[in-house]
Amino acid sequence: MPRVPSPVIVVVMGVSGSGKTTLATGIARRMGWEFQEGDELHPPENVAKMSRGEALTDEDRWPWLAAIGTWMDERLAAGESAVLTCSALRRAYRDLLRENRPAVVFCHVTADAALIRDRVEQRRGHYMPASLLPSQLATLEPLVPDEPGVTVAAKGRPEEVLEAALQRLGLDRQESHE
Ligand SMILES: Nc1ncnc2c1ncn2[C@@H]1O[C@H](COP(=O)(O)OP(=O)(O)OP(=O)(O)O)[C@@H](O)[C@H]1O
Ligand SMILES: [Mg+2]
Repeated sequence: MPRVPSPVIVVVMGVSGSGKTTLATGIARRMGWEFQEGDELHPPENVAKMSRGEALTDEDRWPWLAAIGTWMDERLAAGESAVLTCSALRRAYRDLLRENRPAVVFCHVTADAALIRDRVEQRRGHYMPASLLPSQLATLEPLVPDEPGVTVAAKGRPEEVLEAALQRLGLDRQESHE
């Protein structure tokens, strides 16, 4: 069982529709931690670009990842654990997120493309269309062993995925204390 740092920042990562928000909100609720939707920290220029249907470049992403870093640093400065969502598809993005932050642990949520497509097609009130999935899967660089983190298959009910994630992270026996 991995020994997670305390406080810890769990970054729930994966392609669009894999189940990041569902899992991360479950972790936050169970552990009593603050939760942040990483996409809400995009600078206004990125939001404008995305709403025009334009793809973000890596140049666009650096300030966004820096803003996520600032949010994590605020939690850590308060001595609190926290959980956030961030697709973090490429290793370069993850390296930036954990640079100088040994408290960061990734939790990669994976699901079959067909399952994601089914779920996303039923999802309402969300701007991310299922048509983005192929490019997300092509961009994805899964976690490699020298990165701190665990991988969880988003199979089964959300509660089951949550239990599996907590167990992998070594958080299943830890009481909510923050
Ligand atoms: N274990 C599960 N069982 C059934 N449905 C699920 C499960 N996990 C997630 N879903 C559903 O699949 C859809 C996608 O999940 P979610 O919104 O959590 O993904 P996401 O990774 O946050 O997507 P995005 O990157 O687009 O924000 C949602 O409608 C959600 O309710
Ligand atoms: Mg989400």
